[in-house]
Amino acid sequence: MEELMRIEGLKMYFGGLKAIDGFDLTINKGETLGIIGPNGAGKTTLFNAICGVYKPTAGKVILEGKEVQGTPAYEMAKMGIARTFQISKPLRGLTIFDNIVAAAGVQEYTGIGSYFHKSHTKEIEDKVEAIIHETGLAEVANKKASDVSLGYLRRLEIARVLVTDPKLIMLDEPCAGLSNFAINEITELIFKLKEQNRSIVLIEHNLPLTMRVCDRITVLSYGKKICEGTPEYVKNDEQVIEAYLGKEDED
Ligand SMILES: Nc1ncnc2c1ncn2[C@@H]1O[C@H](COP(=O)(O)OP(=O)(O)OP(=O)(O)O)[C@@H](O)[C@H]1O
Ligand SMILES: [Mg+2]
Repeated sequence: MEELMRIEGLKMYFGGLKAIDGFDLTINKGETLGIIGPNGAGKTTLFNAICGVYKPTAGKVILEGKEVQGTPAYEMAKMGIARTFQISKPLRGLTIFDNIVAAAGVQEYTGIGSYFHKSHTKEIEDKVEAIIHETGLAEVANKKASDVSLGYLRRLEIARVLVTDPKLIMLDEPCAGLSNFAINEITELIFKLKEQNRSIVLIEHNLPLTMRVCDRITVLSYGKKICEGTPEYVKNDEQVIEAYLGKEDED
């Protein structure tokens, strides 16, 4: 398998809090890698430190052989590292369609003024149209983001990622807070992306979903990797069971 990104000795400290404390990871091209771990384990922080939202305290992020740690988020986005947010952040006053158009602009961002204007080419509109269908957003395309349910907003997040032609798709709990029906829709969408041989990193608390969709899973606890392997391997690991369920003899 060909390596897409390698993370070496990554640390992200907030004062005395070691949110990520020496983390290594390889993400291969075309794989779906799951990241699981209890609340506060450092999963979102890991995304933020990779994507340039935070500058890592230490360590390397190597994208296709090139060190990119500390690169600002918009530059990382230009290099094809696209992520969704645990808390959905649409442009609420815009339609679903225009939200995706605006996200397309990230590739050619040259300043807030040019952001929208530049994006509205026929080519981009056609692309957005195709992504709207792919992500199942057709019936709400012309509704304002403020007027659609969370299930649609989660799919919008993924649509906004897809429109940037990402090299790496990073999803932070795409199923959080969704009904079983909406979870199934997201699951189908992730399977579709897998079929397209995309490279995906998925943070998810929904373990059955993660086990089903991921080729490999990494388990984080207190900022450190405690296990990594196939879903089958991870599921049966003592430390993982303990981190999730707690020690049986407690309380
Ligand atoms: N900007 C920040 N400043 C200070 N502490 C932070 C910051 N961001 C995260 N933390 C802390 O870092 C730790 C890891 O948080 P993080 O959000 O990465 O966990 P998580 O694994 O994503 O949890 P969840 O499953 O609840 O989303 C937590 O203790 C959190 O309080
Ligand atoms: Mg999180």
